[in-house]
Amino acid sequence: MTAPNPTIKRLAVLTSGGDAPGMNAAIRAVVRTATYHGIEVVGVRRGFQGLHQGDLRLLGPRDVANIIQRGGTMLLTARSHTWRSAEGRAEGARHLREWHVDALVVIGGDGSFHGAHYLQQEHGIPVIGLPGTIDNDLYGTDHTIGYFTAVETALDAVDKLRDTAASHERIFVIEVMGRHAGHIALDVAVAGGAEEVFLPEDQKTVTDLLEVIRDSQARGKTSSIIIVAEGYPGGGQGIADAITKNTGIDTRLTVLGHIQRGGSPVSSDRVLASRLGEGAVEALIAGKSNIMVGRTGGGLTYVPFEETWEKRKDVSRALYRCAKVLSI
Ligand code: F6P
Repeated sequence: MTAPNPTIKRLAVLTSGGDAPGMNAAIRAVVRTATYHGIEVVGVRRGFQGLHQGDLRLLGPRDVANIIQRGGTMLLTARSHTWRSAEGRAEGARHLREWHVDALVVIGGDGSFHGAHYLQQEHGIPVIGLPGTIDNDLYGTDHTIGYFTAVETALDAVDKLRDTAASHERIFVIEVMGRHAGHIALDVAVAGGAEEVFLPEDQKTVTDLLEVIRDSQARGKTSSIIIVAEGYPGGGQGIADAITKNTGIDTRLTVLGHIQRGGSPVSSDRVLASRLGEGAVEALIAGKSNIMVGRTGGGLTYVPFEETWEKRKDVSRALYRCAKVLSI
């Protein structure tokens, strides 16, 4: 049991690491929930880098009007190097004290949670994390803010590429984001009806792929879509080169890249961000700290930061099998 923390009069919020659609909705939810409970909010620009530099400003409920539908993050974001040193973090803690901030909400991925964890350990400032990354690679939550939108964006591209692949009877290799995890790749492969998918978690080799291509040609397929997560060794380029070299089939590579990080968040991301933002502030008021607020099976979860990086959220093996079965 944690004791409620009525001493929180002012909290700070920042976004950190790669941006994700829905981060604005999360900021809005944090600011408005805090206001609802009589707590002031300070926005930190450019994540931990801005905290180190003292780039803070007060945020009221009207400052977060008209942002729920916007991609990116109104607070800006960065991958901070200065935060990796104890001196950098001490400087950030000093700015929080100067601004009379009692607690910090961090919206980002596991790198950002590490940063928050150190701040709490070294300076005793209560911290709460919200999972904000398109990669969906955080243990303790079914989905991360931004994931649903990234999948929709990638899927839209796959549908378009399928049209031209079919017309030209080509193979299209499409690389999607996901440095360490294949969640985006797997969902896009199933929803886009891909012939094959390569994940960072995979043991599959290019030889297996060549067999799949030969089999599908024998079954009368004249075009194919191959989805590759960027974290698969060699990425999309490696797969495309191997197909061309070994089969001579007309093959094209499309790397979707950062387009997956932008755009207006879909409703599932807005709802998730709103619920988690509200949950984060209420968790702080309830005395919780050093945890991520996630959502599993429809309910909120409170996961110690360490677990978010020590435990792994595996891709769904059932979905992986489904992708294989349906590609026949
Ligand atoms: O935020 C996650 C992510 O989009 C990964 O999928 C990708 O590997 C990485 O960020 C790209 O980072 P950057 O924007 O720094 O190039």
